[in-house]
Amino acid sequence: MIRDIVTIGHPVLREPTRRISVEELSTPPMQQIIDDLIDTMRHANGAGIAANQIGEHVRITVIEVNDNPRYPYKPRIPLTVVVNPEITPIDDEIVVINEGCLSVPNLRGDVSRHVSVRVTYLDRDGVEHDEIKRGLTAGTFQHECDHLDGKLFVDRVADTRTLTTWEQFERFHRAAFIERITAFVERVGS
Ligand code: NI
Repeated sequence: MIRDIVTIGHPVLREPTRRISVEELSTPPMQQIIDDLIDTMRHANGAGIAANQIGEHVRITVIEVNDNPRYPYKPRIPLTVVVNPEITPIDDEIVVINEGCLSVPNLRGDVSRHVSVRVTYLDRDGVEHDEIKRGLTAGTFQHECDHLDGKLFVDRVADTRTLTTWEQFERFHRAAFIERITAFVERVGS
């Protein structure tokens, strides 16, 4: 079911979500939250969505990138259900990514993200995963895990002069960003 997306200012976005057990994960209410997250993300053309963005206090996010009209430069990510994720940076390499968010309507801004991270999580069947993510894909995982920790991308915008509406981004900033990030994606490979 497509759910309403909570926007910035609602307290649920600022509260860290709670981890769930494998037992609880297998219950119909939790599996329904996962299905709702997938439906809501796809309906809104998001690259990912976290459970607290639909008002649910659990540490679950879903991520998927196909041909995304909101982020056409993003490499594809198959549908990934991510439960109880923990992220550890692998090294000090940083990339500045211009980000947006379904809970921050019509605003984008530059955020520094780790280029390479280790992510541990459970999938919707409770199977453990321990994976390395790189580049823009790593950035997407960091953005969604921030949500689950009660953080929004705007908290990480160091230079507030990079904040733009989507319309002004298209007019004044898109070309330079696409050129830089395309070169980055070609170098990093994801
Ligand atoms: Ni977001």
